[in-house]
Amino acid sequence: MASDRLPLVVGPGPLERARRLEGDASPEQVVVAYHERTKHHFHRFAASLGYMDWATQPNPFRRYVGTDLVRLPLPKAGCPLPYWQLYAMGTVPPEPLSVESVSLFFRYALSLTAWKRFHETTWSLRANPSSGDLHPTEGYAVLPAIEGLGDTAAVYHYAPREHALERRAVVDAKSWRELIAPFPDGSFLVGLSSVHWREAWKYGERAFRYCQHDVGHALATMRIAAAALGWRLVLLDGVGDVVVSRLLGLGRHEDFGEAEREEPELLALIAPELSPTVPRGLNGVTTDSAGVRWQGRANTLSPEHSIEWPVIDEVSWATRRSGVSITEDFSRLPTEEELFGRPVCQGLLTSEKAILGRRSAMAMDGSTAISQAAFFRMLARLIPTHDGRSLPWDAIPWRPRIHLGPFVHRVDGLPPGLYALPRDPDKLAALKEVMRREFRWLRVPNCPLGLPLYLLQEGDCQALAARVSCGQDIAGDGAFSLGMIADYMDSLTTYGAGFYRNLFWEAGMVGQVLYLEAEEAGVRSTGIGCYFDDPVHEVFGIASREWQSLYHFTVGGPVEDVRLTTLPAYGREPER
Ligand SMILES: Cc1cc2nc3c(=O)[nH]c(=O)nc-3n(C[C@H](O)[C@H](O)[C@H](O)COP(=O)(O)O)c2cc1C
Repeated sequence: MASDRLPLVVGPGPLERARRLEGDASPEQVVVAYHERTKHHFHRFAASLGYMDWATQPNPFRRYVGTDLVRLPLPKAGCPLPYWQLYAMGTVPPEPLSVESVSLFFRYALSLTAWKRFHETTWSLRANPSSGDLHPTEGYAVLPAIEGLGDTAAVYHYAPREHALERRAVVDAKSWRELIAPFPDGSFLVGLSSVHWREAWKYGERAFRYCQHDVGHALATMRIAAAALGWRLVLLDGVGDVVVSRLLGLGRHEDFGEAEREEPELLALIAPELSPTVPRGLNGVTTDSAGVRWQGRANTLSPEHSIEWPVIDEVSWATRRSGVSITEDFSRLPTEEELFGRPVCQGLLTSEKAILGRRSAMAMDGSTAISQAAFFRMLARLIPTHDGRSLPWDAIPWRPRIHLGPFVHRVDGLPPGLYALPRDPDKLAALKEVMRREFRWLRVPNCPLGLPLYLLQEGDCQALAARVSCGQDIAGDGAFSLGMIADYMDSLTTYGAGFYRNLFWEAGMVGQVLYLEAEEAGVRSTGIGCYFDDPVHEVFGIASREWQSLYHFTVGGPVEDVRLTTLPAYGREPER
């Protein structure tokens, strides 16, 4: 749709700049050029300011000044729902839509989980992780009238510091009915946007990638939060970015003024049950109609921007989507039984502990090993099942395009070395073809039938893993780390330049499952966005530009930083 190429948010500035910069380049060419220029190399990092300009550090909390702030009742601690049950589809009875259930949803998806203090400095952590803890992702919901929340339908922005919803727009009953008509009873919508500046302030040109990773993590936290309430969630990939922007009020120039803009990312549908044929578009309904009353002005996040990164506007423009629902056949993926052997129905943690207790390890101890069973289970969670109903993969309609290259350091009974896990069995041959000829591709013995885990090469790869992860020891000192290799050019060719974002989302979702699985296994993990792109390709012998490394992750025994004080997320006394 040509109209979706119109500037969404900031008037003609970035689009014109993008056109000037790239001439007649196609969106796919813009993406490829962006990806190449934002690679980290041993001898040169992607362009960034190079130092922290503390005077312009962005505020991590967006507020819409002048909106009604509806505080959500903080869910009582101690919910007994076991973590494993989140994945046992159909075993959690759907909660009715109420202010309490909406509150629990946001608590598990996007809320603060702690404040940390070191001397005079405090910072907050959230259920969703974020590169550099900069949190570019903003959350929204479009909800019906709910007692205790509002007596009309409304568009809300989530304010994590307050655990509250800001009522950005009041939606009249007719507009709400039209909006929600195609969907099952009890449905509502959630949305995500990105403030690029928050990441660009620190990471410069590579920031767009990190914003997309963070969206993927948040999409997974939302899917998992919905599961804790017995709800389903599916990405509305049939909704174009223009509509997302209008629906969430992101394009309202008058409400932003000089404040940093938000890039529309996605809209998702939440409902107690979803059939595979539920529409994933919106019939062109938007909330800029007469039945919608907007309120509030976005706060400014930095007093000034010392530098702009036009290439981010350019790649944002090139990756905007017009809204096309993807349909793919999952029937060749494994069954749950093939992945896990027998059903997982016990575990260490409650959902609450895993979700709210999730933390990134700042350092790994270089000694903790994990059991083979734990390793296999973590990896099995990363593979969608053939019925398309496994969590969180049921939220996205495409088959895996992110494949894994584990660096195994300390897994009981497995030789250390380089491994491969094609997340889609049909990609095995292509991965063999593109990777180093001398790799052995030995099927790992004892591993469940449906888990396509292969040993490529034995050997100690701790130093190698750390070296290609920007020299970060966490990649070598864990039980294992892994590179995420994207089926890159084929994805862009099949689904267009906009799918560049989806690839990062999928990588972020893989990361989020690993974060939670590590908690459940009694260890910790950390996302690694800083890695040397082409040296990672070199490790796997990938010479073709068709496949690209998009993210790294490490899992292992954490070393706690005892200098830090932990404070509760919301208004209680400090924990010792
Ligand atoms: C996309 C992404 C990339 C990250 N990259 C790194 C990294 O390269 N090195 C690192 O030590 N931590 C990295 N992290 C971890 C973040 O620093 C961490 O999520 C953030 O400080 C918030 O802490 P929390 O995860 O404990 O909530 C990354 C996290 C994400 C989501």
